[in-house]
Amino acid sequence: MPGLVIIGAQWGDEGKGKITDLLAEGADVVVRFQGGNNAGHTIVRNGETWKLHLMPSGILHPNKLCVIGNGVVIDPKVLTDELDELRRRGVDTGALRISANAHLIMPYHMLLDHAGEMRLGKLEIGTTRRGIGPCYADKAARLGIRVQDLLDEKILKKKIVAALEPKRLGLRDFAKDPQLDLQTMTEEYLTYGHRIKQYITDTSKLVCDHLDRGEMVLFEGAQGTLLDIDHGTYPFVTSSNPIAGSACIGAGVGPKDIDEIWGITKAYSTRVGAGPFPTELDGPMAADLRERGHEYGTTTGRERRVGWLDLVALRYAARINSLTALALTKLDVLSGQERLLVATAYRGPEDAEFDHFPYHQTVLHHASGIYQELPGWEEDISACRSEDELPQAARDYLRFIEEFVKVPIALIGVGPGRDEVIWTKAGAATHAGSTAALAG
Ligand code: GDP
Ligand code: IMO
Ligand code: MG
Repeated sequence: MPGLVIIGAQWGDEGKGKITDLLAEGADVVVRFQGGNNAGHTIVRNGETWKLHLMPSGILHPNKLCVIGNGVVIDPKVLTDELDELRRRGVDTGALRISANAHLIMPYHMLLDHAGEMRLGKLEIGTTRRGIGPCYADKAARLGIRVQDLLDEKILKKKIVAALEPKRLGLRDFAKDPQLDLQTMTEEYLTYGHRIKQYITDTSKLVCDHLDRGEMVLFEGAQGTLLDIDHGTYPFVTSSNPIAGSACIGAGVGPKDIDEIWGITKAYSTRVGAGPFPTELDGPMAADLRERGHEYGTTTGRERRVGWLDLVALRYAARINSLTALALTKLDVLSGQERLLVATAYRGPEDAEFDHFPYHQTVLHHASGIYQELPGWEEDISACRSEDELPQAARDYLRFIEEFVKVPIALIGVGPGRDEVIWTKAGAATHAGSTAALAG
């Protein structure tokens, strides 16, 4: 099982960081392949919490090769701050590698992100304002500045001038902002280049070499399927492709190098930012679920919107990503609910029913869930470590999901800690791989 992709099967924040850290035990390399520091991946180990934004979630494993692939957009200030913080907490970051081809988030990208949201007003996307959209826009416009450009002052300056030229109008309000001074910006970015120089390499070749040796590579996605710029709820999406197909592009490997694709889903749904959310809850029920699940953004601290599990969207994610397994997190958060609802279809405009994820924006904006009601359970399940220990109603909930989505559940999360998981029979082979790696 040399190539395993981990992606978010919902709107992000499904627990990708925790699952990546866990599976990293049996892996040789962990690669981030898209997104940037809009991501916030949490790992809880021995009571200590780690919030990673750019660093692959394998970084806490000593000597595990961690790669920031070409598909990631890097804010070098955030990267160097994250490196400093990890070192301060005693983490060895020597096994980090950064693609020379990854694009850089520049000060003007953040200003443009902010200005774009202000301009949209009520129609805002609710971005993380980290400059992600404008950076990917420059990449597509072939005006991007890449990691390799940090190593040559003349090239860097020339590229900044070329990138700024068509943005003059959009940046008019910031004309006097010292961050935009050419010399200041060039010097600041050259300093970053100097600091990360030791990590920069041809990461595509590096990852392929490891795959050729039969080693296990984890491809860690950020965001989630429904935030995908092509397949998500456009325009309320991020500006990259968080789906599994993007792992090849963002890491520089071929489709045949991917053997397994794990979709991470919560036992319910959340979304940060604006856009359609057919199973959204409001009122006391939403407040209760938000509190129990601590549903506040890792990156921006914003309240996450919460809702019932959306099986229409999850089945869509299974198709778009060719999921081979699901990891279902936060099952513990549902304890104490008398009944649980899961959406098995949508009701759209004019009472039309949809059993597949609608492609049309107008339909999606008016869609609400048609629910199947399932019995809940009272017990605290956080100490359960095998499926047999779970209450019957919890097992029935899991079976219903598996049968509806037609993808086996390999791993169940029953708490934030890395050991608070249940490996199912479907996940046994991967678990054996991780345990063997631990022992060996
Ligand atoms: P990511 O962006 O997909 O890595 O997810 P985040 O880290 O943004 O959000 C997931 C949150 O849920 C984090 O605070 C995790 O510590 C927490 N978490 C992950 N798995 C579980 C679980 O099984 N149970 C509970 N209660 N919390 C979990
Ligand atoms: P992880 O990897 C949840 C959302 C933002 C906004 C939209 C566009 O932690 O799951 P952007 O800044 O990307 O242009 O914002 O995407 N968003 C996320 N939501 N988890 C994330 O990452 C997200 N990254 C971006 O809230 O709605
Ligand atoms: Mg997150």
